Amino acid sequence: MTETITHPMAMNGKDPRNLRGDPITPDRYYSREWMQREWDHMWTKVWHIAGRQNELQEPGDYIVHNFMHESVIIAKQQDGSLKGFYNACAHRAQKLVWTKGAQDSWTCPYHGWVFSIDGSLIDACDRDDFPQGDPVGKRNLIEVRVDTWGGFVWYTMDDETPPLLKYLEPLPDIYRNHPFETLVRIRQVRVALNVNWKFASDNFNESYHTRTAHPQVPPVIDQDHFTSRYEMFPMGHARIIQMGRPSLRDRVPEGKEHPFKATLRFWGIDPEQYPDYETMAMQGWLDLKAAKRMLWKEKGFLQYENMSDEDLTESPFGVLFPNVAFGASSDGMSFFRWEPHPSDPEKSYFDYWMMAYPIEGKGEYVHRTASKPYEFKEAELELREYDGGLGVMDLEDTVVFQDWGLTEGQQAGWRSRGYQEPYLAAQETRVRRFHEILHDYLDGKPPGR
Ligand code: FES
Ligand SMILES: [Fe+2]
Repeated sequence: MTETITHPMAMNGKDPRNLRGDPITPDRYYSREWMQREWDHMWTKVWHIAGRQNELQEPGDYIVHNFMHESVIIAKQQDGSLKGFYNACAHRAQKLVWTKGAQDSWTCPYHGWVFSIDGSLIDACDRDDFPQGDPVGKRNLIEVRVDTWGGFVWYTMDDETPPLLKYLEPLPDIYRNHPFETLVRIRQVRVALNVNWKFASDNFNESYHTRTAHPQVPPVIDQDHFTSRYEMFPMGHARIIQMGRPSLRDRVPEGKEHPFKATLRFWGIDPEQYPDYETMAMQGWLDLKAAKRMLWKEKGFLQYENMSDEDLTESPFGVLFPNVAFGASSDGMSFFRWEPHPSDPEKSYFDYWMMAYPIEGKGEYVHRTASKPYEFKEAELELREYDGGLGVMDLEDTVVFQDWGLTEGQQAGWRSRGYQEPYLAAQETRVRRFHEILHDYLDGKPPGR
């Protein structure tokens, strides 16, 4: 069962025979030359997430995505469609807007050129003073391609990049039964870290570290490599599917209430009916699926309607090449995105978005691997410096807090004369695969074209 491949496009993501075996050289984690190559050949070719679709409700609503030294505006048009533009004035390139907002037009703060939200110049000072002709009707903002999937707004700077649904293949198919558009983003934190952005790509492409770094997880999600399923896809994306039941090899200390019992009780199952721990984990997990299947509607979990048995309990964790990870459970989505610093290859930004499905009468949400409840409403963006952990202490109950704690030690190791080619476990196959896809981009041969 553990090696089942569910989607016809999936390769076994735990089999190193699906790799070429490209070395993972350390300079990629600190050299400016690598950083420049990544910009030239990858960041300008991939689809980026600018925000959530529900941030763009009315014509004139716009969001801004700053990525490295670049900035892009996405605006809702009069006809309801979305358009995206480089955030650079068509006169002399001044940045037009700095944060999201709602306006019918943008006036450049430098010489006052006025742009409609469709990107066309509609007014300018001294229009009769241009020997080359009135700029109105001639000069417009430069467009980027925009599309939507999963309730996210995406754009790409490249005209040749495959369409979004092809680029994401086959994830839109795999997640077709999840109503991601209805998710509410109840926490939104951006943390400045002292580590190359690829730390997170490596980290999220393996669960080998979780037993050491995240000991609170296995009692709730079985992270054993021999019960998980690993998938890699042609476009460079990957998944691990971990069973939503306690691991049989991690017990909570004697006398401590097992967290899985509360989940069972919530769904009307008496955890004390099982004769032993193994039966509670294995039979309880099957009983949980059946109970969710039976009670979802009366308990208000409307998002369950079209979900499969796997969707209802398991913890699928997807990593979108190159810099997004998402855990899409039946109750919500933990979303992570990491981006390079504009000039320093040893710094990056990490976005942590907690999203959840609204449940009638439920005012707060607690993720199954955390302890603090979040209020159930759209969250404002919080900007943080990591500051040795002090800048994010309120997030100390989250799994990513523990990952952030590893960043600076990892960056130090990459710079060490003691660096060796990684010695990877089979369950870390997706780590090398990430670098092989990265190499393909840098060599001008990205997947899908
Ligand atoms: S740069 Fe925008 S009006 Fe001059
Ligand atoms: Fe982790």
